[in-house]
Amino acid sequence: MLGGSGVAVTKLGIGAWSWGDTTYWNDFEWDDRKLKDAKGAFEASLDSGITFFDTAEVYGAGVGIKIVLDYFLLYCSFSRSFQSNPDNLLMLMTFRFIKERKEKEGVEVAIATKFAALPWRFGRGSVISALKGSLSRLGVSSVESYQLHWPGIWGNEGYLDGLADAYEQGLVKSVGVSNYSEKRLRDAHERLKKRGVPLASNQVNYSLIYRNPEENGVKAACDELGITLIAYSPIAQGALTGKYTPANPPTGPRGRIYTSDFLSKLQPLINKIREIGGSYDKTPTQVVLNWLICQGNVVPIPGAKNAEQAREFAGALGWLLTEQEVEELRSMAREVKPVMGFPVEKL
Ligand SMILES: NC(=O)c1ccc[n+]([C@@H]2O[C@H](COP(=O)([O-])OP(=O)(O)OC[C@H]3O[C@@H](n4cnc5c(N)ncnc54)[C@H](OP(=O)(O)O)[C@@H]3O)[C@@H](O)[C@H]2O)c1
Repeated sequence: MLGGSGVAVTKLGIGAWSWGDTTYWNDFEWDDRKLKDAKGAFEASLDSGITFFDTAEVYGAGVGIKIVLDYFLLYCSFSRSFQSNPDNLLMLMTFRFIKERKEKEGVEVAIATKFAALPWRFGRGSVISALKGSLSRLGVSSVESYQLHWPGIWGNEGYLDGLADAYEQGLVKSVGVSNYSEKRLRDAHERLKKRGVPLASNQVNYSLIYRNPEENGVKAACDELGITLIAYSPIAQGALTGKYTPANPPTGPRGRIYTSDFLSKLQPLINKIREIGGSYDKTPTQVVLNWLICQGNVVPIPGAKNAEQAREFAGALGWLLTEQEVEELRSMAREVKPVMGFPVEKL
């Protein structure tokens, strides 16, 4: 269940950020082969029993440029012209396909999408209108989860009221936040509770090598308040899979974060992950996802670019590392200095 919302999701979801993206992923290029691969990832997820997908209003081709442009327009003419194209699940995985699977096999898909708290979006009304845009692009009448993607610069009260309005109107089955600190999380929980709406989830950066939620009180607060922690970048954008090495760092913007120097320092941990995985016949990717699941109350949402990656995620389920292995990995991971997170976490 996502928190106390009654919305059931699979123990692991799939992140859809890279599908169609040309701002951070895919070496700034998108073509038919990548589209086919992403479709393959979607189909393989369903075939493996994973039916929870995370997307966002701001995910998709060119939206980064659009945001910058809209900032410009805002300052020039106070235009409120932001119209994101994405919730990119739709662009790629047309709901015709989902409907087909639903009709033939009874497959139910749970969609989580997110509201972009852009500085020129004020108040509760902006949440409902953005959500309606997302629903229309997605071709559905409601989504299983609607999350505030990051905290608002001018405050969050209006946005939280908007989430509660959406819940009451039946447009969303559960509500969540993302990149919220412990204090913001507690405030959001309290405000929604007054409206009788459970805060179901907080989506934050959490992996074996990015354990901020354990250190800044977010994980403990989620556990205490019955809020599911959805872990994004759970395989450290590929760095924890073991496929990137000092001699073979990732390309594109990731290469500036997971540098050869960083990957050199990561190798002893990767070796240990491999060693532990060997005794279960599991890959490093499966071990690090399992490590997150072992923390309890955590749903990781790794991004899959193709069917093979999605299938590998499914192998992270159905078994558990021992407590001793979990601690051994945590203790070795402490030797690796974490990379910088998404700055909005500190807003
Ligand atoms: N709320 C937020 O602010 C926020 C921020 C970030 C992400 N998210 C969400 O979290 C999701 C996941 O995070 P993420 O995409 O940043 O990072 P991630 O899940 O840690 O890493 C995904 C990347 O790892 C590589 N990979 C995946 N499976 C693999 C495998 N089996 N073997 C080897 N490499 C593999 C792929 O890239 P390559 O094949 O190119 O290496 C893939 O794109 C996103 O899709 C999004 O839905 C949310």
